[in-house]
Amino acid sequence: MGVGLKVLVIGSGGREHALVWKLNQSPKVDRIFCAPGNAGISEIAECISIKADDIDSLLNFARYERIDLTVVGPEVPLTLGIVDTFKKEDLRIFGPEASGAQLEGSKVFSKDIMRKYGLPSAEYKTFTSYLHAQEYVRLKGAPLVIKADGLAAGKGVIVAESVEEATSALKLIMKEKAFGSAGDRVIVEQCLKGEEASFMVLTDGKTVVPFASSQDHKTIFDNDTGPNTGGMGAYSPAPIITKALEKEIMEVVIKPLINGLKREGINYRGVIYAGLMICDGKAYVLEFNCRFGDPETQPVLMRLESDLFDILRAAADGKLNDVKAAWTDDASVCVVLASEGYPGKYEKGRPIKGLDSFKSSKDLVVFHAGTGIKNSETVATGGRVLGVTALGKDIRTAKKRAYTAIDKIKFDGMQYRKDIADKAINRLEKQDS
Ligand code: AMP
Ligand code: GLY
Repeated sequence: MGVGLKVLVIGSGGREHALVWKLNQSPKVDRIFCAPGNAGISEIAECISIKADDIDSLLNFARYERIDLTVVGPEVPLTLGIVDTFKKEDLRIFGPEASGAQLEGSKVFSKDIMRKYGLPSAEYKTFTSYLHAQEYVRLKGAPLVIKADGLAAGKGVIVAESVEEATSALKLIMKEKAFGSAGDRVIVEQCLKGEEASFMVLTDGKTVVPFASSQDHKTIFDNDTGPNTGGMGAYSPAPIITKALEKEIMEVVIKPLINGLKREGINYRGVIYAGLMICDGKAYVLEFNCRFGDPETQPVLMRLESDLFDILRAAADGKLNDVKAAWTDDASVCVVLASEGYPGKYEKGRPIKGLDSFKSSKDLVVFHAGTGIKNSETVATGGRVLGVTALGKDIRTAKKRAYTAIDKIKFDGMQYRKDIADKAINRLEKQDS
């Protein structure tokens, strides 16, 4: 029976649609608002036209509606201190305060914490002077990774295969100021080779609940080619993260990080998303995010059997110890359908056909990302448009179900990868033979 609780989800992507979809299954939740949401979210929640970084308006709305729990999707409001602001007003909110969100908001802060507390990560040096950085690049030689310190909409990291490329990256960030003040400080980092995986946990600063493992597909084209995107698909679980490796990641990455943050005076509550490079079976941290991954959250939440509202409320209240997260053994695959031209420029407003041809079920959900309604039609409004997410008894079944559904969806210029989850399938086949 409903107990009339109200939830506000902030954001407008596939991750937020998945959060709303899962929260909507909680018998405790009566009304869900989403700011600003998208066309898919509007089918199951009340979308309100407040931008995700308009903290004052979000606060007024939450106060007026007496929201019981606010869940923040993207990193920007977290780094702007939305959690600090809501807490001051005694409004329950899930996510880290601005001090903790620096983990994603400043790569220098994040790398310094990793070094100070002994987390496995690539060697690096921080620069504020272009000349000194250039000198260091020449000394080290390629390949190297150049990173702008601040948030740069996922574009501030350049993997340079030559000294020339590294120098151009430094010029772009430090001289041309392509990312504004986010490039005031730059990290030059050793390039790690291996396979990437994502590991998300929830913490209230004391208890840690590991989330199901997952793997993203960063580049636009098959076989990991072409420019990087926000993520073109994901699956869960990720067989590269074995039980033993998960245990190691908890011991050498997650626990030292949470304890280290505490020593720095930061009681971190929220998601810690570790972007990892697995090299010869060992995990190295590439980055930390202070929020759920997108699109990783879509397949991960498809596999969650517990009540997400209970879990997020407990984390916000510092009572994570009281709840358990249970996962189905089934696998899940999410394939992102993107606009023509993405991750570069793309046209907005192209009508999407075929969405009515199937109802979302336990096994298949089309999560919306960049969609809106124009003349009563659902249209594409973003680079990443939809995330077709399927559950199956194994990863192969889930993949087939997702791609079969995609055959029914069409919009002009629709592009997607055909090889989502192949890495997992190949790995499992090798293990079996
Ligand atoms: P980040 O935002 O730091 O995760 O970087 C974005 C992407 O750049 C990662 O997903 C990796 O593909 C790549 N990357 C970052 N750091 C490194 C590194 N040290 N070695 C190799 N690739 C990296
Ligand atoms: N999928 C990568 C991210 O959420 O940062």
